[in-house]
Amino acid sequence: MNYTGPKIVTPPPGPKARALIEKDLDMLSPSLTRTAPLVGVKAEGVYVEDLDGNVFLDFGSGIGVTGVGHRHPKVIDAVKKQLDALVFVNSLDYYTTPQVELAEMLFEATPGDFPKRVFYSNSGSESIDTAIKMAKWHSRRAYGVGFINGFHGRTVGAMSFTTTNLTARRGFAPLYPIGQFTPYPYCYRCLFNQTYPSCNLDCVNYLTDVIFKKLIAPDETAFILLEPVQGAGGYIVPPQEFFDRLTGFAKEHGILLIADEVQTGYGRTGKMFASQHFGFEPDIITMSKAFASGFPAAATVARKEVMDWVDNAHEGTLNGGPVIMEAAKAVLRVIEEERVLENVRVEGDYFRSQLDALQQRYPIIGDIRGMGLMIGMELVKDEKKTPAGEARNKLIADAFSKGLLLMGAGESSLRLIPPMTINRQEIDTGLSIMEDCLKQL
Ligand SMILES: Cc1ncc(COP(=O)(O)O)c(C=O)c1O
Repeated sequence: MNYTGPKIVTPPPGPKARALIEKDLDMLSPSLTRTAPLVGVKAEGVYVEDLDGNVFLDFGSGIGVTGVGHRHPKVIDAVKKQLDALVFVNSLDYYTTPQVELAEMLFEATPGDFPKRVFYSNSGSESIDTAIKMAKWHSRRAYGVGFINGFHGRTVGAMSFTTTNLTARRGFAPLYPIGQFTPYPYCYRCLFNQTYPSCNLDCVNYLTDVIFKKLIAPDETAFILLEPVQGAGGYIVPPQEFFDRLTGFAKEHGILLIADEVQTGYGRTGKMFASQHFGFEPDIITMSKAFASGFPAAATVARKEVMDWVDNAHEGTLNGGPVIMEAAKAVLRVIEEERVLENVRVEGDYFRSQLDALQQRYPIIGDIRGMGLMIGMELVKDEKKTPAGEARNKLIADAFSKGLLLMGAGESSLRLIPPMTINRQEIDTGLSIMEDCLKQL
């Protein structure tokens, strides 16, 4: 395919894409959120081609799924090789080599130098449900704590801890009724109208002094579930002290810490897992998205003594199929062999510096934040930081018409999350399209 840049041959969506979308909208579930009218048919590296032959530069990688780029040749080769050997053996009943080999690699890659176990599943939501069930089984405690603005998925367990917006929850009550919620340190929009550090982290104070003193007993609480950097909530990076306080409290009361690294994991922030930036060693860690670069897979890794449930307590027929396990192994090899983490750090810093410069020129950009190649850009209408959600959506639509795929997060933020293999020239191309669109706002 050899794409060299975005190319618009017919204003998207072109006639073929429009015809397909019309059928799709009539036949598929109306619950699917569609960011842009892209009908992808081919892809390679950082580019996606649509049904009408338009080529788009991908600054979203399917919310971070194609982390090492679309169809990385080493991942595709590993999958093809496994297809020729064995497609499926049910791992409920039997054993396969790739599951064990991948486990060894994952234990190396995840934070914490202690014995671990892994449970494989097929989506981020399932990895969260696994973590919730495991924490409850192990502790035999009633409650769990989550954070406002957290996104953990759509299965009933994961959804019960998803608080990004009401549409994820409305109509489904009663949800799994074990959760209590506390604000996340979203310092740009502090719910307590405070400024860090003079606030002394009132969001954590609320957890320790209100939730754990008035609502639920710490010794009846199984877990605290958090994203080390909030994703769908708007790419929000907490201060170090947040992790220190949570870890101290959890240790004191025997509460398990679950890090949801479904979006932040696998190198996205410049380390294999975002927790590692903060010296944070969760008891349970969940991962999916970039895990197998587009093949549906997830894992929940836990301290060995925490994953102590018995035969039959938690299983899944399709979990950990050998083809997907080989894809996941290949992704880890690519990250190491191609020094992907270094690329994320260097190009992430560059990307961030260019966005900071854009912010100086366009006051609609209220905040730039993030880590590595997980960068959030929040748009605001005025100095009072009124969220500019419509402008954000227009920016996404305009960029699409010029051949750049962008994604939203939170009320008025963009999440800039290109493949981690992106190079300088590709970043510059995307930035110049973004600036063209900002001018039009
Ligand atoms: C942090 C986080 N956790 C969990 C999920 C759910 O993953 P999935 O959509 O694969 O079920 C997502 C999806 O966006 C996510 O960002």
